[in-house]
Amino acid sequence: MGKYYLDMEEYRQLARQAVAEGCVLLKNENNTLPVKEGETVSVFGRIQFTYYKSGTGSGGLVNTHYVTGILDALRAEKEVRVNEELAGVYEKWCSDHPFDKGKGWGQEPWSQEEMPLEEETAARAAQVSDVALVIIGRTAGEDQDTKADPGSYLLTDKEEQLIRTVSRHFARTAVLLNVGNIIDMKWVESCDPSAVLYVWQGGMEGGNGVADVLTGRVSPCGKLSDTIAASIEDYPSTAGFGDKDRNIYAEDIYVGYRYFETAAKDKVLYPFGFGLSYTEFAIKTETFIDEGDTVHLQVRVTNTGTAAGKEVVQVYANPPQGRLGKPLRSLAAFRKTGVLRPGEEESFSLRIPKKELASYDDSGAAGHKSCYVLEEGSYCFYVGADVRSATFAGAFEQKETVVTQQLEEALAPVTEFDRMRPVEEGESFRMVQETVPLRSVDLAERILENRPASPVCTGDKGIRLGDVYDKKADLADFLAQLTDEDLACMVRGEGMCSPKVTPGTAGAFGGVTERLEHFGIPVGCCADGPSGIRMDCGTHAFSLPNGTSLACTFHVELVERLFEKEGLELRRNQVDLLLGPGMNIHRNPLNGRNFEYFSEDPYLTGKMAAAQLKGMGKAGTSGTIKHFAGNNQEFSRNLADAVISERALREIYLKGFEIAVKEGKALSIMSTYGPVNGLWTAGSYDLLTTILRKEWGFDGLVMTDWWAKMNEEGENGDTRNTTAMVRAQNDLYMVVSDAAANTGEDNTMEGLAAGRLTRGELLRSARNICSVLMRLPVMDRFLDRISPEERKEQRESAGEDAQFLDLEYQEVGRDTALDISSLSTEKGASTVLGVKLLHKGVYAMQITARCSGGELAQVPMSVFMNHGVVITFTVNGTNGEWVTRSADMGEFRFPHQYLRFYFGQSGLELKEVKMILKEEF
Ligand code: BGC
Repeated sequence: MGKYYLDMEEYRQLARQAVAEGCVLLKNENNTLPVKEGETVSVFGRIQFTYYKSGTGSGGLVNTHYVTGILDALRAEKEVRVNEELAGVYEKWCSDHPFDKGKGWGQEPWSQEEMPLEEETAARAAQVSDVALVIIGRTAGEDQDTKADPGSYLLTDKEEQLIRTVSRHFARTAVLLNVGNIIDMKWVESCDPSAVLYVWQGGMEGGNGVADVLTGRVSPCGKLSDTIAASIEDYPSTAGFGDKDRNIYAEDIYVGYRYFETAAKDKVLYPFGFGLSYTEFAIKTETFIDEGDTVHLQVRVTNTGTAAGKEVVQVYANPPQGRLGKPLRSLAAFRKTGVLRPGEEESFSLRIPKKELASYDDSGAAGHKSCYVLEEGSYCFYVGADVRSATFAGAFEQKETVVTQQLEEALAPVTEFDRMRPVEEGESFRMVQETVPLRSVDLAERILENRPASPVCTGDKGIRLGDVYDKKADLADFLAQLTDEDLACMVRGEGMCSPKVTPGTAGAFGGVTERLEHFGIPVGCCADGPSGIRMDCGTHAFSLPNGTSLACTFHVELVERLFEKEGLELRRNQVDLLLGPGMNIHRNPLNGRNFEYFSEDPYLTGKMAAAQLKGMGKAGTSGTIKHFAGNNQEFSRNLADAVISERALREIYLKGFEIAVKEGKALSIMSTYGPVNGLWTAGSYDLLTTILRKEWGFDGLVMTDWWAKMNEEGENGDTRNTTAMVRAQNDLYMVVSDAAANTGEDNTMEGLAAGRLTRGELLRSARNICSVLMRLPVMDRFLDRISPEERKEQRESAGEDAQFLDLEYQEVGRDTALDISSLSTEKGASTVLGVKLLHKGVYAMQITARCSGGELAQVPMSVFMNHGVVITFTVNGTNGEWVTRSADMGEFRFPHQYLRFYFGQSGLELKEVKMILKEEF
């Protein structure tokens, strides 16, 4: 097998392991779990038939060959029996109450109506089975935040009733939460099930991973990546969440456990890092050594229980309050053990660089404005299996305040507001308010002072990008050949579903015009998203466990191994960049896209993202870390201003990205739809140049989110303002349908003419784009340097999906007969045709067909458009006569589409298939 061979079996095993290791057990009384050999399980809850593999929107749209839900996986178990009588009751009810998919983009309801459970049904199930599983499901996603209402963040009355009734009849009732991220948990006390397990949304192998935990093959070893408080109001961010125009981040750096452990311990139901196991562990810090620049801990973990399992050791720092104020706990290191059998132990060392404990002085209160400082005092460390139970392990004394990094003020807020800070009151801390320092630098001046030089256009000197790639020419000389107009085209990405790249993907970038191609610039391909490759034409891909689930594994090496497979899959599909990982901070549990993101903690977030990037990097592909930054709510996401202190930005909202850039060597970043401190991020110079490039040394490309806005300070965001975008070093506008024709009507050329933008700034973005293209597989594809063996191997392993790789597009006008010569009408045949619609509008399909059988013969032909069925024509026997049928296909706003024809039976002969425009937009 070649270097890029994708072993699907290993892929499945890794995903399954990740699902299992991400499950978090919160309660397990009466030995409810695991289910023992020979036992019968009664599965309650309608979601047993419609497992949520992910949330909704771009982060969930993966076309899979299969999804194994929890019930499917249990049915496949040899040692455990499923109460099929009960499953039958649910099946019947679900067929009368079908799953509601909602209408439109991201409009699927958060939950589905639950079956009212009759007392007798529960009683009967209890007679014939040993243990009950109640599955509760939730979704949320792009454009749709979770709501603090029943059916969303809260359980519905019917769900509570269900858990209560089952718990009354069964001594062993485990509630399984198939949800994107944490939900309200007050019901655990009132409904009192004997066990509770978060299983998250585990992708297509989800059910198998969960079954591994339920049967005890894997002892639960997932840990909460968020704090679960008693009520949504307890999260200090809730007051500043959900506004249409502006959200004030008054909680500042006190996000999640940083707040609760400092000033509201009693509000916590389940602390950050918490998760039970089927066994027990003792964690002992054997040595704590101050090594000067680092702190070194030697930790020993012993399995003191009766089952095999893994444990996660977590180290939390508690720096001195100093003049800045600090959270009482911040995650500073973690490590997961291997499987330890009862009595077995593992010992390892953890090293924490002291500079990582520094705080950012945005006010100058510590005497060093715009610096990271280690304030004088005691730095204490706590080690344990969650933030609350971690015990004192050692401390070092910082004799005097030192500056660990001298930076410059960047991205500070312009809106006045107060933020929290703790003050000591006896044994505890209370939060008080302090005024947030506002911006004191002149941003326009900073931009002007740092403008790059603008070399003139040399015209075509015959240098091609391949020459630069082969180190025969200099990138600057190559770029100098391009005209301003060429450069303006290069900063336009094309999509969705551009015919220049892998069908059905989100974006194409680089050599998107004929002239750019002439210079040898290839077209790179990027595709959603965090949970697997989204190809809207129906190509199948692997659907991964969601971000929260992966974070809860606390297993960086496992995530890296899993994403090495993802990287190979990208390569096989000729996708260069994944549009993921999503890595915004779980600032508030209600953010609809939390399922895509990892945690409330920036360190865990950064480590997970870096692991994914390293994994994909092994296959030569990479990810696009997103959304940079502050994309913490979906409602009004392209408008609502996030007002955040510079300290909170650097210590919380940017920190994970910083780790992904420095440690994960990120090549590509996506900015957000909305503004932070008054500037839409896609045009925010301080974010994308001062901090990202100058401070962190990022040398990759930045792209906008799809159809994002940019603004001039004080003005509103506008999708056309690429002048502000390029000036800030957001290199690519995503997306337009035709870069050469400037279909997005951007103002790059006007900006240049007016002197608001320079050729040097455009060249800088072109350099960023080209330098990334040269680090991706597309360069070798373009230069035809992919080995024939790799090509062959990829084609073979892609199976039927390989037909998408060479798709050609037929033009479709107002009334066009398609070329159907490639269509096979044999039973089970599935053929894809690419079409380019010349008009936006509503189309119908008209077929002329005949079927040799008699009138009772039925021959179905389904037409799939992108990933859904649009029409099924069932043609009865026509006794050899030609008949014409037509049906509506719906409306189309993008030119490139894919039709897949599937034949359920043989016997249909097609004379003509037409697409007819019924209404033009
Ligand atoms: C999302 C991005 C996604 C892009 C392309 C946007 O709506 O916010 O995360 O990558 O679409 O599908």
